[in-house]
Amino acid sequence: MQTVSQIQSLRSRVKAWKQAGLSVAFVPTMGNLHQGHFSLVEKAKTVADKVVVSIFVNPMQFGPKEDLDKYPRTLEQDQQGLEALDIDILFTPTPDIIYPKGLDEQSYIEVLGVSEGHCGGSRPGHFRGVATVVAKLFNLVQPDYACFGEKDFQQLQVIRTMVEDLSMPIEIIAVPTKREPSGLAMSSRNGYLSDEQKETAKVLFQVLNDTAQSLINGDTDIAALTNTAKSQLTAAGLVPDYYNIVAQKTLKPAVDTDKQLIILAAAFLGTVRLIDNLQINLD
Ligand code: PAF
Repeated sequence: MQTVSQIQSLRSRVKAWKQAGLSVAFVPTMGNLHQGHFSLVEKAKTVADKVVVSIFVNPMQFGPKEDLDKYPRTLEQDQQGLEALDIDILFTPTPDIIYPKGLDEQSYIEVLGVSEGHCGGSRPGHFRGVATVVAKLFNLVQPDYACFGEKDFQQLQVIRTMVEDLSMPIEIIAVPTKREPSGLAMSSRNGYLSDEQKETAKVLFQVLNDTAQSLINGDTDIAALTNTAKSQLTAAGLVPDYYNIVAQKTLKPAVDTDKQLIILAAAFLGTVRLIDNLQINLD
């Protein structure tokens, strides 16, 4: 594995691979890697000849009151994990390499529709930041495939939509959420939680499963299901941010004819914002 932070070194290596007819899979990350990220890398290794992983804590996707400065940075540990997985290139640019003109002068990508509501509603500008950096990274790495986790399902749909709307020649591969034995979805932000808080956090997935079971049993009262779920979260000590039962493709409120549903949820535990989701197929 080679770690490169300069664009030119990345480009020349990728160019040599392309000239040799080799395919490239890409896993963009913000570091602080856990089993969830490693499962994306494992998937990437099965689809292409070469694998590039990036670690870049993207300032453009953090709001002014969010945790950019204290976002966990664990490069040495991440490098060891990736070394063990035998990837080809770890790309670790700095903010001035990605945004040489600064954020205010930087052109951006706004993905319409699926960026709205849910995390997009709670975190204005977040998906603009994600889409912009991912588009830039795609242009730098020029992958044939890119792997994203289903845990950030709205992000996955934003990226899929961007790739479709802008005709990017990249196949987006969705990888299922990795969970702790308790059901808690793996996330870099779990590092902020105490053991006791993790016990509370696991309730989020339990509540998602309860709602899913009710839907599967034929309950169609979305408003009542949502209220029950929010009350369960509150009773456990979580503060619901949103809890939305929506159509998988559009992320718009589910109607009777929708069979591919997803419940998208976010809740605060102290200052930590947890997100999770559960897909339901009613066919
Ligand atoms: O999911 C993440 O870690 C980030 O949003 C991503 C896709 C690496 C873009 O910064």
